[in-house]
Amino acid sequence: RGGGGKRSTLRVAAVSTPAKPSGGTPKQDFDWDNLGFGLVETSFMYRTECAIDGEWTKGTVVPYGNLSMHPSAAVLNYGQGIFEGMKAFRTAGSDDVVVFRPDQNAARFAEGAGRMSMPPVPADVFIDAVKKCVSANREWVPPEGKGSLYLRPLLIGSGPILGLGPAPSYTFLIYCSPVASYFKGGKMAPIDLTVEETYHRAAPGGTGSTKCIGNYSPVLKVQLAAKKAGFSDVIYLDAVENKYIEEVSSCNFFCVKGKTIATPALGGSILPGITRKSIIDIARAKGFTVEERNVSVEEVLEADECFCCGTAVVVVPVGSITVKGEKTQFQGGKTGPVAQEMYDELTGIQSGKVEGPDGWLE
Ligand code: COI
Repeated sequence: RGGGGKRSTLRVAAVSTPAKPSGGTPKQDFDWDNLGFGLVETSFMYRTECAIDGEWTKGTVVPYGNLSMHPSAAVLNYGQGIFEGMKAFRTAGSDDVVVFRPDQNAARFAEGAGRMSMPPVPADVFIDAVKKCVSANREWVPPEGKGSLYLRPLLIGSGPILGLGPAPSYTFLIYCSPVASYFKGGKMAPIDLTVEETYHRAAPGGTGSTKCIGNYSPVLKVQLAAKKAGFSDVIYLDAVENKYIEEVSSCNFFCVKGKTIATPALGGSILPGITRKSIIDIARAKGFTVEERNVSVEEVLEADECFCCGTAVVVVPVGSITVKGEKTQFQGGKTGPVAQEMYDELTGIQSGKVEGPDGWLE
């Protein structure tokens, strides 16, 4: 682990914006105690455009509002688009606002753009955009401990096209929303999962490892049915053998046995989560052996505990997993010690209370 509490120099300062100035402190008249993971419209969003053969240049923030788009925009017709999820935090004991590992989102965004035949946004343009968006919306960053400002960068084929092909022009935008716990039960409330046996989230050679827009709607049918049956979410299995765990609809999966933590290896059909990567580093630094490999359902049912993680989800313990109607509980349905340790360390780093590796907070 890096020492010295060093952070890179990209701390988000308040900047002047084209419309309302943003305050340095959280919005005074907002109910920060009842924040969930729903959309709260903030003051500004970032937006810039680029032709297919052009170059991205640094854009500006504009007032938050609707987009106007041609009906034949490639994103509307052919789903040519990707998104990111990332968070800004107010740090403990100061008014600093920091962003968690934006360099990682920049890299994944560029990778995804390549997969979807879109011009990749260079890292410096991406990080400049993130800073501008956070600065302009600084008053929407929740008080420390009450949540974060969730940023949603989007890269979409916004130009018109009828025949199948890449759009002639692209829009890169970032909007944001203050958020708190993703699942209804609240922070660290164990979730009940069910293993999906019919539908798959992704297949070899597909786009499972890309954060493309089209990857998410197909899970809704299964997820809604699971929720109706009383589950929090769904575990997807591999599309070849229908045996190994891939991920949950919105997060990556880990299981723990003694001092060994296993998580499904990234093989092209699993989303390479930045929280996943961070948890692997945190766990190794804490002396756990972390294995990235095939993780079968049978193995998981024998685990001491399981947990999920993601940007939106943070870290959440798994209370139970149901397979073909049979429910297996972990830790008596309560939060396991490893999930708690990972949550405490990750959120400690994000709030600046715990010294993390160099460059994680920008
Ligand atoms: C995130 O965790 O940031 C995601 O993009 C997942 C999304 C389904 C909420």
